[in-house]
Amino acid sequence: MTAAPKPASHAVSRVLVVSADAAWCARVVAGINGAAAQLDNPMGVAASSAADGESAIAECLADGEVQIVVIDHGDPGHQGNHAVQTAQALIASRPELSLYMTLEDDADKMLVEALASDAITGYFYRSEQDFRGWFRILSAELAQKSDTPFYDALKEYVGQAIDSWHTPGHGGGDSFKGSPWVGDFYDFVGEEMLRADLSVSVPMLDSLLRPTGVIAQSQRLAAKAFGANKTYFATNGTSTSNKVIFQTLLAPGDTLLLDRNCHKSVHHGVILSGARPVYLDSSVNARFGIFGPVPRAIVLQAIADHPQTKVLILTSCTYDGLRYDLAPIIEAAHAAGIKVIVDEAWYGHARFHPELRPTALECGADYVTQSTHKVLSAFSQASMIHVNDPAFDEHLFRENFNMHASTSPQYNLIASLDVARKQAVMEGYRLISRSLKYAQELRAKINTTGAFRALELADLLPDEVRGDGIRLDLTKITVDISASGYGADELRELLIERFNIQIEKNTHNTLTLLLTVGSTRSKVSRLFDALLRLAKDKRAPRTYARMPEVPRFSSLACLPRDAFYETGERLPLIDDHGQPNPALIGRVCCDQIVPYPPGIPVLVPGQVVALPVLAYLTRLLQTQKSIDLHGLAHFDGELCLRVLTEAELQALPQRSV
Ligand SMILES: Cc1ncc(COP(=O)(O)O)c(C=O)c1O
Repeated sequence: MTAAPKPASHAVSRVLVVSADAAWCARVVAGINGAAAQLDNPMGVAASSAADGESAIAECLADGEVQIVVIDHGDPGHQGNHAVQTAQALIASRPELSLYMTLEDDADKMLVEALASDAITGYFYRSEQDFRGWFRILSAELAQKSDTPFYDALKEYVGQAIDSWHTPGHGGGDSFKGSPWVGDFYDFVGEEMLRADLSVSVPMLDSLLRPTGVIAQSQRLAAKAFGANKTYFATNGTSTSNKVIFQTLLAPGDTLLLDRNCHKSVHHGVILSGARPVYLDSSVNARFGIFGPVPRAIVLQAIADHPQTKVLILTSCTYDGLRYDLAPIIEAAHAAGIKVIVDEAWYGHARFHPELRPTALECGADYVTQSTHKVLSAFSQASMIHVNDPAFDEHLFRENFNMHASTSPQYNLIASLDVARKQAVMEGYRLISRSLKYAQELRAKINTTGAFRALELADLLPDEVRGDGIRLDLTKITVDISASGYGADELRELLIERFNIQIEKNTHNTLTLLLTVGSTRSKVSRLFDALLRLAKDKRAPRTYARMPEVPRFSSLACLPRDAFYETGERLPLIDDHGQPNPALIGRVCCDQIVPYPPGIPVLVPGQVVALPVLAYLTRLLQTQKSIDLHGLAHFDGELCLRVLTEAELQALPQRSV
């Protein structure tokens, strides 16, 4: 392998030339590097060589700065198929790489086209050794991949210092400037952020609700990066993205299979769409209070039992990093004519590292929602909707998107999506490799404390899904604290108060830590140091008030939407003796009742209230101070459940669901 020259700019884009023909390879490397030295080189192109496919693949996995691989397919003494195999192996590990082939003649090109057409970015003929020309083509490819059309247009517009006679009212921050009351906000948020807070009145910045210019271009780049046919930017998070897709695919009364473990936005989507849900009980790890995927057998059985189903939605990975083996499930759904939506709110980074792939799109999902802000560098609320549905109705989707989207989207959020995509493509592999490395180190260190233990897949997997090919996203670390003598709430508070560390979430006996592209070595060592100190102050073992188990789903008396839109009546959850109110048993709930965390509804609108659910909610209220219960109504000083009156229930069109 020859050494790469020093790059011409801060960015480094390594070009790896792969050929068994050492002399030819050396000529190409020298030619490209010569051109890089003579011409403008903003992408930092620096070529080096690899003698064969295996070493090229190893190099691409070891060095995230490799952006382009030029594979010699035309080496006369060599085997073309080998070059194609190298290309396929590279695509399988780093799909964001740009791949070029060098060919001997036209027959060669036909072979390459037949074997790997879509995946190959371009071709060079071996005989045409115009290395300046090659360098220009490679640089242009890098410039295109790293382009940020919306962000660039936004910067350009802000740079023009155009007077604002439009919304937002702060006029580019001028309302804050010099104010004795709110002037500090200007300094805190920063001038550029305020100047870039613009509106649809600026035509050169396109419109999120009908993109035809720079937003459309940015979305096309995102689609390519994430492997979608179409990608849409959403500035109302994955919460809204899920609802948009539901309304696009489901008409009132359509059957929908959904993971009971889905985020509450999915359950809201059921109300809005008027769909007829079939709830699939998720697996539960009772020991740690963690919800896992729905067992594959349950999903497949539901597909067989409900042939009229329109849509299946699953969450992968879960909040705790458990991800389905999606391909066989999606295949079964498609065979039954069912569209598959996968909520990848926690898995937007997966495309950019082989350890995390395949993504849901790669497994054949029709629609995928991702909170780009959760694990990549976008701002909070910035999400993406990816579409690969062959029967996609763009007009219908647009109508539904626009129904939910604000007419005043935050332009900094859109720019952050553009930049987060660029970063994922250009350095995602390197940054995620780093997170995985830190995660591995942190797991090992946590296990040395004696008081805390980083849980592995085997610890997290509920028994029901052990044979389902579930894998763990190792960047999400669940720490078992049961041997530490600390309570989870206490530990969470100690981490903030004594060590300035805020974790993601906790259950009664675990803490969850997220490593992302923003994790640094010093954050890792500060956290370890804090845990080590806390472990040294080890307390006597204590017994935990175990979280009561989430009861299984009871039954639906009517469509969730029908129950939700009734007025209902409010009945106290707990009676005068501190017991579950017996008057609620058998009544039909109007709201979604969600203990948070973990955010899984224990009652949905239309569901018949059963004693186990009431007992569960009562126990939660009496034992778990840190849990919020969303959906309960405060009425006359009491916590109440809104339920259908008998008359409302009788009048509803459908009684059995
Ligand atoms: C599985 C899942 N889907 C969707 C969402 C909503 O995402 P957002 O915060 O981007 O609206 C969340 C948020 O935590 C989630 O956990």
